[in-house]
Amino acid sequence: MNDKFIPQMEPWFGSEEKEALIRYMEEGGWLTEFKRTEEFEQRIAEYTGAKHCIVVNNGTISLTLMALAAGIAAGDEVIVPNYTMIATPNSVKMFGAMPVFADVEKDTLCMDIESARKAITSKTKAIIFVNANGRYPRSGIESFKKLCTENNLVLLEDAAQALGSFYPDDIHQGMIGIAGSFSFSAQKVITTGQGGAIITNDDEMAFRIRRLKDFGRSRGGNDIHDTIGYNFKFTELQAIIGIEQMKKLKWRVERKKAILRKYMYNLRNVPQVKFFMQDLEKTTPWFIDALFQNRNELVEYLQKNNIGTRLMYPPINKQICYQLPGNYEVSDIVGGKGLWLPSQSQLTDNQIDYICKKIISFYTN
Ligand SMILES: Cc1ncc(COP(=O)(O)O)c(C=O)c1O
Repeated sequence: MNDKFIPQMEPWFGSEEKEALIRYMEEGGWLTEFKRTEEFEQRIAEYTGAKHCIVVNNGTISLTLMALAAGIAAGDEVIVPNYTMIATPNSVKMFGAMPVFADVEKDTLCMDIESARKAITSKTKAIIFVNANGRYPRSGIESFKKLCTENNLVLLEDAAQALGSFYPDDIHQGMIGIAGSFSFSAQKVITTGQGGAIITNDDEMAFRIRRLKDFGRSRGGNDIHDTIGYNFKFTELQAIIGIEQMKKLKWRVERKKAILRKYMYNLRNVPQVKFFMQDLEKTTPWFIDALFQNRNELVEYLQKNNIGTRLMYPPINKQICYQLPGNYEVSDIVGGKGLWLPSQSQLTDNQIDYICKKIISFYTN
């Protein structure tokens, strides 16, 4: 029996973040967003190949801002996957647009192109494509680009889970639509506690997003407001943490891939466990996700053995706050069988072996 509890996920700060923060505080540095925030944005832009990166206070508001900047308004319909974090639909519901749900592909959990096509109506203005666990769709992201072009829709990417994940042609996820969004909440590949970023190559989108997040000002340092805007700004303290986390990104990407490889290898002969299709050359799993037979009993068994897990997202249409009818076969399956295993990059190989041994013993006893 492992006597130390292995959580499903825990954020990872090291001495580097702490020391950088102390140095900055001792220098008497500025607190609200300034030079360090610019450096953090620059690092994300360079890594993803984006012309612009704008950081905001979380990865939900980043979705709202990119939708608003793209001209989506109250009453418009926006197609989102039925398997995603609730932030995706809520980000547009917040300003009165209507999320409309499409099912996802069974082997990638990314939006299903045919389901998306069927969801289009005369009111549809956009698709928010979600890179589920850094994956890209089996149908190819180009199929979504084409669908949007043919129907005059805006393509936005919710790449909250996808920093470090690329499409097969080496374009970073979030760079295919007019804008893409990341989250840096506590459990993401890198974290700033809370935080989000929008990447885009479109100058006008970048300008509008910056204005929206800063009270509707075209430039900081004055009180001239050309449009209605809000305060979704970042802080230098988060940026300092983010810069240190970015320095660790390359290592984390490799470690996350190695962790999934090891889980897949250890559980290769367990027919009750089904992993999804993850291209480990190009993409980085944020969480270790799979379908498990007798999931709920397994969760209890693992808990008793000091192993934390987390149920994957239930289908959004069945959440109490939506309660919408509809047949979403794949998101229903995930809601019943999907489970996230311990996924933090600091997980040791011995811990993975222990977790897998317990899963195997659950199914064989
Ligand atoms: C797909 C997706 N979109 C949006 C979000 C929301 O990000 P945040 O928690 O930074 O608001 C998350 C967070 O997990 C997510 O997974």
